[in-house]
Amino acid sequence: MSKLRLGVMISGSGTNLQALIDACAQADYPAKIEVVISNRPDAKGLDRARNAGLKAVCIDHKGYDDRAVFEDAVHNCLTDHKVQLVCLAGFMRLLGADFVGRWKDRMINIHPSLLPSYKGLHTHARALEDGVKFAGCTIHYVRPEMDNGPIIMQTAIPIAADETEESLIAKTLTYEHRMYPAAVKLIAEGKARVSGNKVIVKEDVALPTEGLISPLA
Ligand code: GAR
Repeated sequence: MSKLRLGVMISGSGTNLQALIDACAQADYPAKIEVVISNRPDAKGLDRARNAGLKAVCIDHKGYDDRAVFEDAVHNCLTDHKVQLVCLAGFMRLLGADFVGRWKDRMINIHPSLLPSYKGLHTHARALEDGVKFAGCTIHYVRPEMDNGPIIMQTAIPIAADETEESLIAKTLTYEHRMYPAAVKLIAEGKARVSGNKVIVKEDVALPTEGLISPLA
């Protein structure tokens, strides 16, 4: 079976990209990374991509006066590489409605909160400040509104009594790294279908065994 062609978009460290690189290195994983695009030249994730022998492209948004022209460049790079699914992995620039529309139901994002709570930045600090008992992370299809769209997979993460922002960020990332490859696998195997504002997951996907990740692929 042919593998789903991924384009991964990053802005920074790229630890989620690394999780996808590691997953794609497994022979039976149903997806492969065709291109990694960063909007920042100093993104550490670009080195991760190059170290893995992947095509790594910087399209620096600062080089463009007009967002639409920047997004056209990104779009052309993705189509040049025949990308079938765009994975936003710590890509920290808002994408315009035209771009999002062109990749509707073909672009997913990971966000470090239990959406729809805590959209935007500083999610961990805000959750701690509110005293919530569970933090989390979410993978969702992208819609024009920030951190919004049909939810594919979520992990609820208990907040410990002595939790700090640093510990919560680190803990959340470990779950993100498990969840992103699992969500991409689900899509690549045709087991996730968008229906309105929801994602229907095919019945033969195992439901949570540990009570946290839902659904656990
Ligand atoms: C991750 O925590 C990801 O969920 C978050 O940025 C971090 C990137 O880390 N994304 C967002 O906040 C998007 N709204 P990484 O570069 O090490 O993968």
